[in-house]
Amino acid sequence: MADLSIEFCGIKSVNPFWLASAPPTDKAYNVVRAFEAGWGGVVWKTLGEDPAAVNVSSRYSALYGKNREVIGFNNIELITDRSLEINLQEITQVKQDWPDRVIIVSLMLPCEEKLWADILPLVEATGADGIELNFGCPHGMPERGMGAAVGQVPEYVEMVTRWCKTHSKLPVIVKLTPNITDVRAPARAAKAGGADAVSLINTINSITHLDLDQMVAYPVVGGASTHGGYCGTAVKPIALNMVAEIARDPATAGLPISGIGGIGNWRDAAEFMALGSGCVQVCTAAMLHGFRIVEEMKDGLSRWMDQKGYTRVSDFVGKAVPNTTDWKYLNMNYQVIAQINQDDCIKCGRCYVACEDTSHQSISQLIDAAGVRTYEVIKDECVGCNLCEITCPVQGCITMVPQHTGKPYMNWTQDPRNPRAERPAVAESV
Ligand SMILES: Cc1cc2nc3c(=O)[nH]c(=O)nc-3n(C[C@H](O)[C@H](O)[C@H](O)COP(=O)(O)O)c2cc1C
Ligand code: SF4
Ligand code: SF4
Repeated sequence: MADLSIEFCGIKSVNPFWLASAPPTDKAYNVVRAFEAGWGGVVWKTLGEDPAAVNVSSRYSALYGKNREVIGFNNIELITDRSLEINLQEITQVKQDWPDRVIIVSLMLPCEEKLWADILPLVEATGADGIELNFGCPHGMPERGMGAAVGQVPEYVEMVTRWCKTHSKLPVIVKLTPNITDVRAPARAAKAGGADAVSLINTINSITHLDLDQMVAYPVVGGASTHGGYCGTAVKPIALNMVAEIARDPATAGLPISGIGGIGNWRDAAEFMALGSGCVQVCTAAMLHGFRIVEEMKDGLSRWMDQKGYTRVSDFVGKAVPNTTDWKYLNMNYQVIAQINQDDCIKCGRCYVACEDTSHQSISQLIDAAGVRTYEVIKDECVGCNLCEITCPVQGCITMVPQHTGKPYMNWTQDPRNPRAERPAVAESV
């Protein structure tokens, strides 16, 4: 049976599933229940200076799918609203009671070295395994010069990271904001400051929807609202890309990554790991479905690893990174064509409409005398865009079939159709 234990920047964890800094890790009561459920670690809800932050009501809003499943989650909460002393006491106690579980303490303070120098020994004294620097909170705290206001300025990221490395022996994980043009810049800065790891993503600036009667966005606070931080399933693709960007950046290659953003099951977690995350963190899925989701995560990952012959997590961490490349290195001679399985087709015509109206008019609609419709792909016209396969409501009914073109690998830098062809690049694995 696969071994799920990991070592992440020197921190040993019984499994790679940690809860992200947020309400699920806000207090001892939650964290103990999370550990009982089987989570390998937690990043404690962000601590700051006293007096503790004060929150508004209401605080959350969501983007729903058709069946009221939550696709995206938005919050305007601040960091912990409990005193530093209480939090530190609880962390000390929980760590004593659960020595084999990871507790990382998330911190957010103004950019003054003395404040960091003062708090770090207090955190170390709790027995915590590491610290995470919250340079990502996108609401409330940036207005006070913290959170994303720091994370958006690489020089600040490097400076504060260095202070933490100077004043603490604990591993330092720098949590990055996605509200930035190029996430590699703060990741490089974190590395330059001596970070042991980065974690990402924090939440994305968002307004989910409005109350059009009151003319105000959700969540409503009195008659007004403000932008929040977006997370949950909807942000997973953005997070995965950012993780990959850092994993394949030669400047940060090898820097441990803790992947966060929309992780709700073992498969999501495996994807983050394949793109370079040594461990993963979960927030929204736990808030919506409870701590027990970790059972499916552990079971599923372990079964899949057994199936694939991976004995430990490190066997596949980063395995998809070499296959994630720049567009210009993709194989121009690779070709797929859509194929409809007529036995599965329910004749809804969605593929036809999609291809006819917005793609390459590559699906024919034949209606016989009895009014029965048949849809067929016109092979010579199909460009293999995947749109019909995505549109089809019957999973597996349309498949994309690779064609044997007999042509060798040729990327855009080598393509005679490219007026600005570069010197042929060494072929990467694509
Ligand atoms: C209500 C709420 C509060 C949060 N508070 C914090 C926080 O105090 N510190 C922090 O670093 N991230 C905080 N986050 C961000 C999460 O840790 C995480 O980065 C983000 O939600 C993306 O993960 P997810 O898609 O699994 O939720 C918060 C998120 C939510 C939903
Ligand atoms: S793959 Fe694209 S071009 Fe080909 S049939 Fe489907 S929608 Fe049309
Ligand atoms: S979308 Fe799928 S089920 Fe509907 S007609 Fe096309 S192939 Fe058939």
